[in-house]
Amino acid sequence: MSKIIEAENLTKIYERGAEKIYALNNAAFSINKGEIVSVTGPSGSGKTTLVNVLGCLDNPTKGSLKIEGRQIFDGNINLSEAELTRIRRNIFGYVFQKFFLIPTLTVKENILLPSVFQPELKTEDKNLKRIMESLGIEKRKDHLPGQLSGGEMQRVALARALINNPSVLIADEPTGNLDSKRSDEIKDLLVNLNKNRGITIILVTHNPQLAQIGNSFIELRDGKVI
Ligand SMILES: Nc1ncnc2c1ncn2[C@@H]1O[C@H](COP(=O)(O)OP(=O)(O)OP(=O)(O)O)[C@@H](O)[C@H]1O
Ligand SMILES: [Mg+2]
Repeated sequence: MSKIIEAENLTKIYERGAEKIYALNNAAFSINKGEIVSVTGPSGSGKTTLVNVLGCLDNPTKGSLKIEGRQIFDGNINLSEAELTRIRRNIFGYVFQKFFLIPTLTVKENILLPSVFQPELKTEDKNLKRIMESLGIEKRKDHLPGQLSGGEMQRVALARALINNPSVLIADEPTGNLDSKRSDEIKDLLVNLNKNRGITIILVTHNPQLAQIGNSFIELRDGKVI
């Protein structure tokens, strides 16, 4: 199996005044194409920090990160901002721990947001329809986020993550605000995406039942992989 992400000694230090916080401390692992990787650990253990670094949304302080064999970071950032943008847009889809839906944009506009940065992609409509249907939100397409239930917002956030056909989906607590029935729906969706479209999924969750869909596991304690 080919490796899509390789991390060595990955370290992220936050400085708060004189205090140094090791949000990530020498994390080393690799992720194979087509895997579901569950990332678990107590609150504050570094899960969000880890997935933001892997998704090239945040720079590590030290260590090495390769994506699709390409050295992204080895103590220095090796890519231009334009190249990083291309990686964020073409390789990754993100479901954030907080939904970050724009309150003044409709469901449809929120989902299409990532493709705003990709004006050459004008064939979105078919993709949009298919994604909205598969997530059961097509009837909500002209609604504003404030008019949706928590489960619907979560599915809109997932639709937005999928609009650019990412090869890696990063989902940070995708069922964090949902009851068990809605959580099960998201769980089935993620399993199907992985099975039918071969998407690699990096799944951060506190929910043991959801974590169980992983075929690989990263458990964090105080920024360390245990
Ligand atoms: N921007 C920041 N500045 C300073 N410290 C930060 C920053 N972001 C995160 N931290 C600290 O880094 C550590 C890891 O945070 P992180 O958000 O990655 O944890 P988490 O495992 O995702 O937690 P949760 O389960 O609550 O979402 C925590 O101690 C947190 O307070
Ligand atoms: Mg978090």
